[in-house]
Amino acid sequence: MPELRGVILAGGLGTRLYPLTKVTNKHLLPVYDRPMIFYPLRTLVECGIREILIVTGGGNSGDFLRLLENGEEFNCSLRYAYQRGEAGIADALRLAREFAGDGSLCVALGDNLVEHSIAPARQAFESQGGGARLLLKPVDDPERFGVAEIEAGRIARIVEKPARPRSNLAVTGFYFYDNTVFDKIERCRPSARKELEITDVNNLYIAEHRLEYSLITGWWTDAGTFRSLLRAQQLAAETWGGRDAAAAPGRAAKE
Ligand code: G1P
Repeated sequence: MPELRGVILAGGLGTRLYPLTKVTNKHLLPVYDRPMIFYPLRTLVECGIREILIVTGGGNSGDFLRLLENGEEFNCSLRYAYQRGEAGIADALRLAREFAGDGSLCVALGDNLVEHSIAPARQAFESQGGGARLLLKPVDDPERFGVAEIEAGRIARIVEKPARPRSNLAVTGFYFYDNTVFDKIERCRPSARKELEITDVNNLYIAEHRLEYSLITGWWTDAGTFRSLLRAQQLAAETWGGRDAAAAPGRAAKE
């Protein structure tokens, strides 16, 4: 079996953070003492993933290369892909097809931060024999996210940003996919916001009864709005700002 590879999606316009994102990419903005993308990168490396594709887009993609170089500093090997336009998460993931080869992927959204290791979810994914695995987290504001509805212990459906959420379980930006994800993306059509939605891809796995989930332990946050960016800053500072600084993303490799 080919080794599990990682993909970090770091494109998009970041319009919800305008004007912070007028001249730079959202994933390069500071979260406490380092650029946002260091956090999901560190999460993937920490769970043993060594080959990672960064998908960027827009006018600042060259900055990722200058910042992250070949990945050596982070104890991994990095490659880069460029997403033209802003056609959504699933469209960006499509660019990883060649990189994935015959293998499976761990996909992270570049604005998602998690306190604890996702290694237990990786182990569960690798022993489930194909399909996909999502990481879910109960939240107070599920209407901001993809929301998973659980029936008889399984995900029965996922609704993207429902006006009236039927559960408080947010679909976080960490996903494990087998190789069939690419055929599923081809079957998706643009949503009302003219994007290929990762939620539609996940619902195709549900239709095949091949979607599992793990609950995230510790805190999780995205950082794509002013409020969640501030929350990410506070959580990162509280968690890694003191004597545990050496354990923070991108630090351990240097010190
Ligand atoms: C995306 C996904 C959503 C998920 C969220 C996690 O939303 O579409 O399902 O819950 O990331 O951060 P977006 O940030 O693109 O609005």
